[in-house]
Amino acid sequence: MKTYHPHGTQNLKWWQTAVFYQIYPRSFQDSTGDGIGDLNGIINRLDYLVDLGINAIWISPIFPSPMADFGYDVSDYCDIHPMFGDLETFDRLLDEAHTRNLKIILDFVPNHSSNQHPWFLESRSSRDNAKRNWYIWRDAKPDGSVPNNWVSMFGGPAWTWDEKTQQYYMHSFLPEQPDLNWRNPEVVEAMHNALRFWLQRGVDGFRVDAILCLIKHDSFQDNPPVTPGSYWEMWGHTLEPRYTVEQPEMFEHVRLMRRVFDEFEERVHIGETGTVDVSGLIPYYGRPLDGYDIPFNFKLLHADWHAPTVRQILGDYYDILPAGGWPNFVYGNHDIHRFATRYGYKNHRSVAMLLLTLWGIPTLYYGDELGMEDVFIPVAQRIDPWGINMPEGDFGRDPERTPMQWDASPHAGFTSSEPWLPVADDYQTRNVAAELADKQSTLNFYKTLIQLRRSHPALHNGAFTFVDGLGDDLLAYLREAGDQRLLVCLNFGDQSRPIDLNHLTSSAETLLSTHFNAHSGTTFTLQPHESVLLQLK
Ligand code: GLC
Repeated sequence: MKTYHPHGTQNLKWWQTAVFYQIYPRSFQDSTGDGIGDLNGIINRLDYLVDLGINAIWISPIFPSPMADFGYDVSDYCDIHPMFGDLETFDRLLDEAHTRNLKIILDFVPNHSSNQHPWFLESRSSRDNAKRNWYIWRDAKPDGSVPNNWVSMFGGPAWTWDEKTQQYYMHSFLPEQPDLNWRNPEVVEAMHNALRFWLQRGVDGFRVDAILCLIKHDSFQDNPPVTPGSYWEMWGHTLEPRYTVEQPEMFEHVRLMRRVFDEFEERVHIGETGTVDVSGLIPYYGRPLDGYDIPFNFKLLHADWHAPTVRQILGDYYDILPAGGWPNFVYGNHDIHRFATRYGYKNHRSVAMLLLTLWGIPTLYYGDELGMEDVFIPVAQRIDPWGINMPEGDFGRDPERTPMQWDASPHAGFTSSEPWLPVADDYQTRNVAAELADKQSTLNFYKTLIQLRRSHPALHNGAFTFVDGLGDDLLAYLREAGDQRLLVCLNFGDQSRPIDLNHLTSSAETLLSTHFNAHSGTTFTLQPHESVLLQLK
């Protein structure tokens, strides 16, 4: 039995024991009747989040944007999109959240701005404009073709021709998202000041977007073809982005950004990482710990729902964490199909059981607490720019971004008019109001689980010990702190599994079961796909 002892548990920072919750603001709650969520809507739902028990809200971008990539194309880093509200409403959101002991995390998109950002408009206005070098411009090859073979993460070349100034500009994503030139110190200063603008207002931290693309190799060499079976091939790439992602200077910028956070008290620095394998996360922590507090760990998110696979990933990760580095886990976000769909509805509560009982910060995605599933969007109605470029059989990211289901009224209580993406067909039964009224609903399961996490220090900073050998399809681990001794046991399979805990304890009581069963004693049977949190003697 291998045990991991969380380090430095005496003076934990607020974020080390927090449960994070991601809001995709367009889809959470509309207050104006335009079919798109907004900040007032979030304010109106803060009490729901308090009742759910989470501690911190990460809100995807709410800044002015032409919405080519639904907000990940920012045209002003220091304001609020009128569709979402204004700075005054934002300040009210901060106040209302802080009054309720909720933290607010914003999304920072440093790699690229919108092509409508005044900086880019200036940059493309002429070759000798003072902001020309704020973006990445290159000459065409002698035959007029693109400067090299680099491609956009969303498909197609990473270069777009500018007729007026007769050069190509580079974009890691859409042509509407030109990459900023982080080799230019003026860009660095302007972007650091954008962070300060919000941190001074009282924002509790940032999730930093697409950092892996921040710096491009200055040789501008062609990228090589992908190795068959590699991570990049899995993502549908034909080229390995050797010269376009995770350049050493990028990590230096993570550290420099971190210093901006450190000018303020108690802010959290979260990064969207690239995770070929868990060891790839380590440089994002910095050395020693001067990078991200929370380098998002997507390894489980991309893994099969298979007990030995999950066991392996957890062990590999805990084994290599740097001294003082705190783990974290993500199972869903606005870029990946909902896990209730990926792993099958029958497993969705077990995913929550795992995420909320591991040693490591959990980040939840809005609606997963209701058991929301992907909503099928016919090809002709796709609006996600990535999805539009996808082959027929894939669906892009619209399915996981549909409106939150609040109640059984028209449009699920999300809006009074036609929502920007369709509401799921099942909204009349799967919604917050209905689930609050049903003691054994997924929502009440989440609420109890989060409450148990909050009230048991063993679950956030207790020692973690794998209990191997209980049986096939099972993953089990102990969480222990002081006199708290908890056992989590997950049945990943579709067979009932007898459990014998005699070698571990003289008595066990169920604190929570995905099936709301009340097992007790040292031997019992887990139903297919059932997971339990037990209190041991
Ligand atoms: C990140 C975001 C994704 C966005 C992309 C470009 O991966 O999570 O939604 O499209 O960056 O900004």
